[in-house]
Amino acid sequence: MKSPLHIPVLKNEVINHLKIKPEGIYLDCTLGAGGHAEEILKKLNSSGLLIGLDADETTLKPTHTRFSVFKNSQFSLHHANFLHFPDILNKLNIKKVNGMILDLGLSSMELDQKDRGFSFQNIGPLDMRFNKKNSQTASELLNNISLIDLKKVVKLYGEEKNYSKIAQSIKQYVKKDKMKTTLDLKQAILAVIPIKKSNKTLARVFQSIRIAVNDELNILSKTLVNITNFLKKNGRVVIISYHSLEDRIVKQFFLKHSKVCVCPREIPICVCKKDPTFRLISRKPILPNDVEVLSNRKSRSAKMRVVEKT
Ligand SMILES: C[S@@+](CC[C@H](N)C(=O)[O-])C[C@H]1O[C@@H](n2cnc3c(N)ncnc32)[C@H](O)[C@@H]1O
Repeated sequence: MKSPLHIPVLKNEVINHLKIKPEGIYLDCTLGAGGHAEEILKKLNSSGLLIGLDADETTLKPTHTRFSVFKNSQFSLHHANFLHFPDILNKLNIKKVNGMILDLGLSSMELDQKDRGFSFQNIGPLDMRFNKKNSQTASELLNNISLIDLKKVVKLYGEEKNYSKIAQSIKQYVKKDKMKTTLDLKQAILAVIPIKKSNKTLARVFQSIRIAVNDELNILSKTLVNITNFLKKNGRVVIISYHSLEDRIVKQFFLKHSKVCVCPREIPICVCKKDPTFRLISRKPILPNDVEVLSNRKSRSAKMRVVEKT
């Protein structure tokens, strides 16, 4: 059965905050089904360009077809990890863009496809790679990782307090050669946690392993550092995160680079003469309203942050 199309989260808020110029160049680092990108394309004229990247090659063809109503010259889609966005821009001979969006995490299509192994609600191979060309699946990671490191993964990336018991149980299943499918992982977790809290714990542990398989937090941090060099003056960056670990990285990066003065408090007059890189567009994250959360449950954990290049 075909998975339903991903519904773009905070669609209007993304488009309003990007302040799209019809002739501008925009980079969608997490193209997915192209929901946000399509809205950007609708605002561009024939000189404008939308560049879309996705680490998951399977998203590109259907999204390309979705964009067939637009001129071919208005969009350029690439199978790439957003970590490598500077290489793609270099290849296209583009020095700077007018705006960027990162809508982090995974799409509904990826979550719902059994053979991708992202969801504890489906039975499938324990894969969890965004990019199927990457070497290590979740099953391989769990087979190779030490108990100490697995405890760290579940504790830090899953923010799960029963991390020790869960990691031990997973390693016992590995020893019995039973860590190949999402059901194996689910059973290893359920063996040691109270059934009452099972869905939340399953979600947290699956998330932690997905983050480790795709090295998501390191890649996000490294990508943010590059963003400043490729953004035009007054260009905007919009980032939507779906868990506190990602949001913390984005928030701290934006705050650090939008500080006007970094002199110690004891110094009454500024000596650092720091020019901030960004202007914060909103101090607090922008959240979906109740109507959106009711119509799209997957939006409920979204937090959007926006900055503008000074
Ligand atoms: C939440 S979905 C984006 C949905 C999209 N905004 C839309 O409206 O359809 C996130 C997408 O980012 C991709 N992705 C996740 N991490 C990535 C990375 N490091 N580089 C490139 N794409 C990534 C996933 O494969 C997924 O397709």
